Amino acid sequence: MSIKVAINGFGTIGKRVADAVDAQDDMEVVGVTKTGPSFGCDLAVKKGFPLYCTFDDEDRIARFAEQGYECHGGLSALLAIADVVVDCSPGKLGAENLAKYKQADIKYMFQGGEKHALTGLSYTSSANHAENLNAQGTRVVSCNTTGLSRTLVPLYEHCGSLKVECTMVRRAADPGDSKKGPINAIKPVLKVPSHHGPDVITVKPEIEINSLAVAVPTTIMHLHTIIADLPDGHGLSTESILEMWSNTPRVIIMHGEDNRITTTAEVMEMARDIGRKWGDLHEIFVWEDGVNLIGNRLYYFQAIHQESDVIPENVDCIRALMGTEPDWRASVAKTDAAISAYYNC
Ligand SMILES: NC(=O)c1ccc[n+]([C@@H]2O[C@H](COP(=O)([O-])OP(=O)(O)OC[C@H]3O[C@@H](n4cnc5c(N)ncnc54)[C@H](OP(=O)(O)O)[C@@H]3O)[C@@H](O)[C@H]2O)c1
Repeated sequence: MSIKVAINGFGTIGKRVADAVDAQDDMEVVGVTKTGPSFGCDLAVKKGFPLYCTFDDEDRIARFAEQGYECHGGLSALLAIADVVVDCSPGKLGAENLAKYKQADIKYMFQGGEKHALTGLSYTSSANHAENLNAQGTRVVSCNTTGLSRTLVPLYEHCGSLKVECTMVRRAADPGDSKKGPINAIKPVLKVPSHHGPDVITVKPEIEINSLAVAVPTTIMHLHTIIADLPDGHGLSTESILEMWSNTPRVIIMHGEDNRITTTAEVMEMARDIGRKWGDLHEIFVWEDGVNLIGNRLYYFQAIHQESDVIPENVDCIRALMGTEPDWRASVAKTDAAISAYYNC
C-alpha cells in the first residue's frame, strides 16, 4: 500500500518534504497547496504534484486558472483523498489548520513553528519514533531541536543522564526570505532561556537542557555551541564520542583544519557538492577538532542546515503515524537510501 500524503503549504519546507516523499517507494504525494498562483506553482507542475488551493472558496480557486495553472480544488478536496497531511504552513496557523484536519478525520503532522501543546506529541527519528507509532497527529520539532537531538540522544543513551547548556547562533533569515533581519547587528533573544533547548524535552524528557539564542546576519546555517555535563563513570573519551557520532545516522564528523572546512560557508559548499537539490544538507555537521571532553564536561560545535535537516525526519514520521515501520533505524536507512538514489548522490 502506498501512503497518500498531502502537503499543506508548499514553501521552503513543503517543497522539500514533497520531494523526499516522492523519492520513497511506500508513499506518494497526492497534492500540494498554494494560497494563490505564484512562481512556486511552477515547481509543483514540473514535478507533477497536483496543485490545490489552501482555501476552499471558489474565487481563490479560480485565480489559479486565470494565471494558467490547473487547480484541482480546495484543501478539503485534497484532505479527502489523503491518508496523512504534512502541515508546512508558516508557524502559528496550527490551531486553525488542526480544526480542518480533525473535521476531515485525517492524520496530521505539524512543523517546529508550532508549539508542542498543539499536538501534545512531538517527533524526531532517533528520540521517540516508537512513541509516535499509530498516533493521530504529531509535530516534527524545529531544525534546531532536531539538530540537538541528533547528537545528544546517543550521548544520553550511553550515559543515562545528561545536563546541557547551549547557545543557538541563528541565521537571520532563510536565503529566499527578504522580510527578516538583522542585516547588520547581533540580536540576542531576550527570552531566557530560549525555547530551543527546552524543546528537546518534548522528545527526550530525560535530558536536562537550557539554551540561549542570538540571531546573526547570515542566511545559510545555524551554529550551536554546546556544553554537556556527563555523569560520573561515563566511560567516554573525546575519541569514543566521535566514534559514537560517526555511527549515528544523519551526523557528519569532519576535521575542520584538515579539510579546510572552518566556517559554515565551506560546510554549505561541501553540501552543494553532495548534489542534493537546493544544496541541502540533511545531516548535522560536527567539527571533529572542535570536540573536547575535559573530565565530565563535553564541549562541541555543530552546524545545522535549517531548511533541510528536518526533511528526512518528516518521512520517518509519516511511517510512524501510519504504523508501517516500527524500527526507527530501519526507517532512517530506507528514507536516506531513497533520497540518495533520487538525487543520484
Ligand atoms: N524554513 C526553515 O528554516 C524551517 C526549518 C524547520 C522548520 N520550519 C517550520 O516549517 C514550517 C513552514 O516554514 P517554511 O519556512 O516552509 O515557511 P514558508 O517558506 O513561508 O512556506 C510556508 C508556505 O505555506 C503557505 N501558506 C500560507 N498560509 C497558509 C495556510 N493558512 N495554510 C497552509 N499553507 C499556507 C505559504 O504561502 P504561499 O502558498 O502563498 O506560498 C507558503 O507556501 C513552519 O512551522 C516553520 O517554523 C522552518
